[in-house]
Amino acid sequence: MDGACGKWGMAGGCGTVLPELLTSIPGPRSRELAVELRAHESRNVTYVSPGFPVFWERAQGTNVWDADGNRFLDLTSGFGVASLGYAPERMVAAMRDQAGRLYHAMGDVHPGVDKPALCRRLSQLTFEAWGRGPGKTILTNSGSEAVEAALKTAWLATRRRGVLAFTGGYHGLGYGALTVTGRHLFRDPFAAQLADFATFFPFPNCQHCPFGATGREPSACLPDCMNAFLAQVEALLKKRTIGAILVEPVQGRGGEVVPPNWFLPLLRSLADSSGALLIFDEIYTGFHRTGRRFACDRWGTTPDIVCLGKALTGGFPLAACVGTARAMDAAWPESTGEALHTSTFLGNPLGCRMALESLDLLESEPWSERVEALGNHLEAGLRRLQGGSKRWGWIRGLGLMRGIELLDGAGQPDAAGTGRLVEAMLARGIILLSGGTEQNVVSLTPPFTISEEEIDFALRQLGEASE
Ligand SMILES: Cc1ncc(COP(=O)(O)O)c(C=O)c1O
Repeated sequence: MDGACGKWGMAGGCGTVLPELLTSIPGPRSRELAVELRAHESRNVTYVSPGFPVFWERAQGTNVWDADGNRFLDLTSGFGVASLGYAPERMVAAMRDQAGRLYHAMGDVHPGVDKPALCRRLSQLTFEAWGRGPGKTILTNSGSEAVEAALKTAWLATRRRGVLAFTGGYHGLGYGALTVTGRHLFRDPFAAQLADFATFFPFPNCQHCPFGATGREPSACLPDCMNAFLAQVEALLKKRTIGAILVEPVQGRGGEVVPPNWFLPLLRSLADSSGALLIFDEIYTGFHRTGRRFACDRWGTTPDIVCLGKALTGGFPLAACVGTARAMDAAWPESTGEALHTSTFLGNPLGCRMALESLDLLESEPWSERVEALGNHLEAGLRRLQGGSKRWGWIRGLGLMRGIELLDGAGQPDAAGTGRLVEAMLARGIILLSGGTEQNVVSLTPPFTISEEEIDFALRQLGEASE
């Protein structure tokens, strides 16, 4: 891996620019803005503490500058969105051009000219590439809504109410998506108003086996966990018919959890034998994040519906539910003038143009290879650091989607320590997120344009901040 900007610099961010801090973090301007925000934004939205947040003013490549002029290295890609870094020249030029032409149209009535091309492109990259024939798309404004469109599709296509979903799964926070999100933190405050069509199963997780086989080699415990899982599903199918199995092929916000190899193929065969549709939520993992175009490609397993978002546009709120033409046409009747699932901003022209440009860039170079190589480099560095720290538990993930589990002195999940480490890294000029079902996973999802030098810098800082 040369990390050379000639080859990879088209996204405008491969040149190594390490953090440079002008003021203490957060600086005075960010602190002022936090006070103003606290007064006028619902207090549950933005986390404010003495060390958090910094207010972003601009971003380029892997760098973000805050309101006080500090330059940061962003190891999150802004929630996994800016996979090719911030402000690639081609994206900026396209946005400027599009803004001057058309930035709003009538999505489901008189659409913008780019909507057909985007739907065709999504079909080519998914179901046609998987050899499953054409795909059909419903564009949405958020990932949460794409999941809801997928759930509606499965219901209309199968008329079966039940959905099999997974603990630790994150699919968004709209009431529909929340119904299938397997996280108590988000569900419990609203439980009284959530429908009960989802049944949650443990997401197989070799390091913390939900079937009681932790500590054994994955190959040794394979039949136990798979059989235990299968027995649970078979018991459910005797009681309830299911119309959908919904899963993240690699759990993202649940803490970068990679399932064992049997998992996705088994879900495929369960969907086939039960008549349910298999929905993969690739909103986080899609478009090379895990070292494959889609995470499911690693297991050679395809869904009936795939949900996409985040890197799809690189930075505009547009997501998509793409299904096989067969499933989509079985579900949705021809429109007679009033769409059953739409919204004011559906297929926004700026979003469609950004998605088309972003997809071109994402297909223009062998990003998966680079992501795999940089991911290995990052993982090797994390394992070296782990050697020196008792507080670092399991290091997990694939490609440039990695997590470090932090434990307290008693070996228990250390959510407070994780928060402190994220703040300490911010003070060193590195933007990270905490995640995981216990909030004790430091998540790293840097842009694919990051250099090895930037990764090494981040690792040095992480080592020092963890001491
Ligand atoms: C796997 C997955 N699905 C769905 C969502 C929800 O997307 P949005 O926040 O755009 O509603 C997310 C967001 O992080 C996600 O990671």
